[in-house]
Amino acid sequence: MQPRRTKTLEEIQLSDPEFWTAPIEEREGAFATLRELDPIRFFQEMEMPPEIPLPKGPGYWALTKHRHILEASRTPEIFCSGKGATSTVDLPPEMNEFFGGMINMDDPRHSVQRRIISRGFTPGALQRIVGGVDERARRIIDRVIDKGECDFVTEIAAPLPLEIICDMMGIPESQNQFVFERSNLILGLGDPDYNLGAQNPIVAAMTAGTELAALMREMAESRRKNPTDDLTSGLIHAAEGDDDILTDAELASFFILLVVAGNETTRNAISHGMKALCDDPDERRKWAADFEGVAPTAIEEIVRWASPVIYMRRTVTRDTVLDGQPLAAGDKVALWYASANRDEEVFPDPFRFDVTRTPNEHVGFGGPGPHFCLGANLARREIRVMFRQIFERLPDLEITGEPERLASNFVHGIKRMPCRFTPGRAAA
Ligand code: HEM
Repeated sequence: MQPRRTKTLEEIQLSDPEFWTAPIEEREGAFATLRELDPIRFFQEMEMPPEIPLPKGPGYWALTKHRHILEASRTPEIFCSGKGATSTVDLPPEMNEFFGGMINMDDPRHSVQRRIISRGFTPGALQRIVGGVDERARRIIDRVIDKGECDFVTEIAAPLPLEIICDMMGIPESQNQFVFERSNLILGLGDPDYNLGAQNPIVAAMTAGTELAALMREMAESRRKNPTDDLTSGLIHAAEGDDDILTDAELASFFILLVVAGNETTRNAISHGMKALCDDPDERRKWAADFEGVAPTAIEEIVRWASPVIYMRRTVTRDTVLDGQPLAAGDKVALWYASANRDEEVFPDPFRFDVTRTPNEHVGFGGPGPHFCLGANLARREIRVMFRQIFERLPDLEITGEPERLASNFVHGIKRMPCRFTPGRAAA
């Protein structure tokens, strides 16, 4: 893939929805221009459609260089998350709290929450679910292997992260589809395919969130009566036995954060990774020849390549200067992780997919700082296990149509992508 610079600096409009439906090469070209000519550039905010009644805000600074994003990530006392991290448009505070939980918090509240929740993500806790990840991935391939063709996204990439999160939380399998549809509604806010043509997508997303929260409350109630060894029980135990308390509302927000942060991201990493391997047979052969040996670098390269989270926002807490650019207290800043992951200053030949790339200091899981992805090790595990299954059991899998991309400036998503392979047999 090579970027195409079709726009001058003045013509680049990151807040124009059309920018996000243009071919990916043009989008990459625009970010390359920004990195080169104006890496800290001010943009107007998106005009909201009438069905989303939010006032137009004052605009935001777009950070497109790797080193600027690192600096902002490392200084959360100046670049805070508490005013909203998932949208440059100011969302109502209750929506930030409800949907984002700790991703939209600053210290001291953030570190208290992160400490409690981290208990579910320690190496020991992850070790307990590793077997489950293998088993789930095997069953996902079993479901498609005799068909010879399927939709890669919905039948192969999407089920694994969803099922693992549901397993972790102890949610019964019968509810998986319900959770899947609700999480799509929340993250696919701008895509009519996902918001099911809702008259007011914000109301639709809030309703989906309320339904997920209700499921979580039911789960919590049942675990209070009958404790188990799942994460829901663990969090309730922490809530009851410790000074650090997660309220019921915080538990629900955490669950919503987990299903949206852990599902779409990993699903898209796997889908973009598969596409990249099909587009570059040499890289695919390299990995196939030594799966375990190449896996650590290949997985990081897949996350860099996919950049499933395109940006996160911060808000400036006091007047400051970033690489010569004055920023005022209250200014909004967008950290374009996807652009930093193509920064020519950091990645030699950044538009080349290279499964042995070393070093690979990508910011696909966020920059170094308090909000670095809590699920990074789980995501790495899921990507490894899924590709091991594909290499072993669907070795000639090919993508047979253009990926259908999600219309979003936040999630680098693929909605559907047809694939074909020589049919095999389900594992015994
Ligand atoms: C390839 C997959 C994934 C990618 C690319 C990804 C990306 C990210 C990014 C960029 C952030 C930083 C947010 C910021 O800068 O404010 C983040 C935070 C987070 N991620 Fe992930 N993520 C992935 C998988 C997961 C999984 C599987 C889970 C859990 C099951 C998860 C849970 C979280 C949580 C809870 C946070 C918030 C951390 C905090 O605010 O302290 N993520 N993720």
